[in-house]
Amino acid sequence: MRALKPTTKPKTKPEAGTMTKTNTAAYAEPMPRPDAPQPDAASHGYPVDLANVTKTYGAPKPSGANTGPAGSVLTPGLRALDDVSLRIEPGEAVALVGPSGSGKSTLLHLIGAMDTADVGSGRIAVGQRDLADLNQRRLAEYRRTVGFVFQRFHLLPALTAADNVIAPVLPYRTNYNKRGRARELLAAVGLGGREGSLPSQLSGGQQQRVAIARALINRPGILLADEPTGALDQATGAEVMDLLLGLRAEYGLTLLLATHDPAVAERCDRSIKLSDGRLIDEHRGEP
Ligand SMILES: Nc1ncnc2c1ncn2[C@@H]1O[C@H](COP(=O)(O)OP(=O)(O)OP(=O)(O)O)[C@@H](O)[C@H]1O
Ligand SMILES: [Mg+2]
Repeated sequence: MRALKPTTKPKTKPEAGTMTKTNTAAYAEPMPRPDAPQPDAASHGYPVDLANVTKTYGAPKPSGANTGPAGSVLTPGLRALDDVSLRIEPGEAVALVGPSGSGKSTLLHLIGAMDTADVGSGRIAVGQRDLADLNQRRLAEYRRTVGFVFQRFHLLPALTAADNVIAPVLPYRTNYNKRGRARELLAAVGLGGREGSLPSQLSGGQQQRVAIARALINRPGILLADEPTGALDQATGAEVMDLLLGLRAEYGLTLLLATHDPAVAERCDRSIKLSDGRLIDEHRGEP
């Protein structure tokens, strides 16, 4: 595996709420360098700010109707997140911890704009952008600048490692060579030479590496990972954490991961604990 830089925070950390020169340049450049953030990269170098965010599943419809399809009665709303306020600085590595059902995945889905908070419940902003204000097109652009890694990898079994990495951008025209970037990313996660392997020919740790490479295909500014080591043994999980923290340093990513593993949480800059949808505790790692 290619040696990665030490797992330290990027040295040039932008001040809270400001746009760095680098980012300004990234937005201004018509043709970015192949490894530069894309011009529409709405998540690079920005803090993520949640203010009083609530998410209720199965809430009664605003129309007041309390029956679902075929007259079924809707269950009372389940409050998965309850008035959560949180700020994540660009380049930070933050662990979300808490018991099963406490709202960790829900929080990741909201930040990744895969789901929405309750209408009028608060604000999720990335930089100055309120996600609730983005139209469908802007939201789709934003989603493409956020990488997501799942506990169970979610690779397509019939596709090779390289094709899995390319899959998210297959329908889109890109200003980079997809196959070239896939090869580069697979090398960065230690899988150089395995581009043609099918998921069934790879170990669990290797499959997770492919999934991480796939999450990076669009050079995201934010990498969200839902129990990225949850399906791996302790040693392989530690290797995947080495990789994530190394990639964070190399690409200047903001890393937000949900985990049940204290060893994983300890390696992050900060741990945030959720219980019943509420943020109850925060622990800052030793510098
Ligand atoms: N799509 C959904 N519809 C209804 N309820 C949901 C849905 N997704 C999650 N929930 C509920 O929201 C609450 C929070 O779930 P969430 O998946 O965020 O928890 P979690 O902290 O990620 O748990 P785990 O550690 O088990 O992954 C749970 O009570 C769950 O049952
Ligand atoms: Mg979860």
